[in-house]
Amino acid sequence: MSRCRLIYSSISSKEIVSNDAIKALVKRSSKNNLRDKITGLLLLSGDRFLQVLEGDSKAVNRLYGKIYQDSRHREVELISFESIDVPYFETWGMRLVDLYDLPTHPRQFLMDKYEHLDGDIQIPSRLHEVFSLLLDAKALCQSNPTPQDSSTE
Ligand SMILES: Cc1cc2nc3c(=O)[nH]c(=O)nc-3n(C[C@H](O)[C@H](O)[C@H](O)COP(=O)(O)O)c2cc1C
Repeated sequence: MSRCRLIYSSISSKEIVSNDAIKALVKRSSKNNLRDKITGLLLLSGDRFLQVLEGDSKAVNRLYGKIYQDSRHREVELISFESIDVPYFETWGMRLVDLYDLPTHPRQFLMDKYEHLDGDIQIPSRLHEVFSLLLDAKALCQSNPTPQDSSTE
């Protein structure tokens, strides 16, 4: 079995970020991803999604095909697809990190480190910065756990 890491960005639809729809999406996705042994993280900054998916290459590709066609977001753009030996996000079926909801200090840390516009952290254009942002988000999650972490529904 070959394992891969896929990263993409997209722009969310208004409906999904403005109500409980995002929570339902994350709940369903966590359940699916645990079943399919896909791990990852979904970052939301303003209306931008940045998602990393890790797992069996076929399963990740199949999922990306579904996600690409999902009308709850648009302008889905593949950033990176690579074979991996070591996953970065192995403990999460799927975890949402909404940068807007972060406490002041971690938010300021990200604002100092990454470009931002009107208070929203911009999804970086350079790949190493994309990785860096995802790993920062992971680290911030670990220091601010929420019930979502333990959700296996
Ligand atoms: C931004 C975004 C991220 C998504 N991430 C996942 C995911 O990680 N796992 C997943 O199963 N579905 C994800 N989806 C939903 C899929 O597009 C699709 O609706 C879902 O896989 C269908 O699952 P179902 O067959 O259980 O209804 C995502 C959708 C969006 C808009």
